[in-house]
Amino acid sequence: MTKSALITGISGQDGAYLAQLLLGKGYAVHGLMPRRSSDTLWRLRELGIANAVQLIDGDVADLSAVLRAVKQSNPDEIYNLAAQSFVGTSWQQPLLTAQVTGVGAANVLEAVRLIQPAAKFYQASTSEQFGLIQAERQDEKTPFYPRSPYGAAKLYAHWMTVNYRESFGLHASTGILFNHESPLRGVEFVTRKVTDAVARIKHGQQKELRLGNIDAKRDWGFAGDYVEAMWLMTQQPQGDDYVVATGTTTTVREMCRIAFAHVGLNYEDHVVIDPQFFRPAEVDVLLGNPAKAQRLLGWKASTPLDALIAMMVDADMRRVA
Ligand code: NAP
Ligand code: GDD
Repeated sequence: MTKSALITGISGQDGAYLAQLLLGKGYAVHGLMPRRSSDTLWRLRELGIANAVQLIDGDVADLSAVLRAVKQSNPDEIYNLAAQSFVGTSWQQPLLTAQVTGVGAANVLEAVRLIQPAAKFYQASTSEQFGLIQAERQDEKTPFYPRSPYGAAKLYAHWMTVNYRESFGLHASTGILFNHESPLRGVEFVTRKVTDAVARIKHGQQKELRLGNIDAKRDWGFAGDYVEAMWLMTQQPQGDDYVVATGTTTTVREMCRIAFAHVGLNYEDHVVIDPQFFRPAEVDVLLGNPAKAQRLLGWKASTPLDALIAMMVDADMRRVA
């Protein structure tokens, strides 16, 4: 029998790759989509799946819309990926971030509990929850210390997922995913901001690239690998919490060096430090320990950072050309 999945945030980076993965496995894929005046289907189109998914109008902050989406899609699996996901913006829009990123997850959990309690639920938790890190390598037992309104909203969503699992016996999992990138990454995030600028500079359309704290370190992987981990979590006998990461960390500076060097440029000739891109509170370093995901899910990141950056620069070179 065909399985049904509901993805909130289907038009985002992860939503698009996850939809592609599930369609490939024969699922009927439904996506909750807020109404926007501009085009938000470009990622689904780039993957050639815009007509293969069934879109349902609705905002994750609106419980009635979420209830209707769950009823209509009758899902075996629900992936809650919808969020105001840009950390920088969360200081400008803290309450909207709380409503969408935090309460939105509670809305989806309520809909599961009330309408579809046998469905398997996945919550997109994040390494931002570790914030001011309390251990050199962060795993499922590391205490959280969020450093942004986004991190705080995600922490609420995370604990609500754990709470609904323990209170109501839902098959509910959290994936504590470290940064993951791809050619479908939003251009406001640093890796894509860099690869887009590299392509524009190489084509003579731009001269400099203005960045904030390039000494920050992140554990970067490929989004295509990470959506596999999401699916593996919903295939387990019960819900659980998993760190998903590569286990290596790199500075933004080094990431820039690799990206510019890929097209024969020196980042030092183009990168300008601009205070407007510094954050009120920074997460200086993230480094995940994915041993549990490897042991229980059989999952391992398979795309090295230089291959990921090359993939992103090449895609942006094609787009700019
Ligand atoms: P993304 O590209 O920003 O996608 C977010 C999605 O949520 C978009 O489809 C967006 O639609 C949708 N959305 C925003 N507000 C909504 C609302 N009120 N109702 C319904 N949908 C709404 O993020 P991503 O990189 O794919 O990440 C997916 C999830 O994983 C997010 O929850 C993110 O916080 C989390 N996460 C990401 C990473 C990472 O490194 N990528 C790491 C850990 C966790 P519009 O585009 O129309 O606004
Ligand atoms: N965006 C951005 N723009 N970041 C910059 C810039 C810049 O010009 N200059 C330096 N950075 C630094 C940020 O200060 C941060 O330390 C690092 O680059 C990464 O920033 P982002 O790419 O915006 O990602 P993030 O780590 O803040 O958040 C992403 O990863 C989280 C998981 O750890 C998002 O995808 C979140 O939704 C996700 O939860």
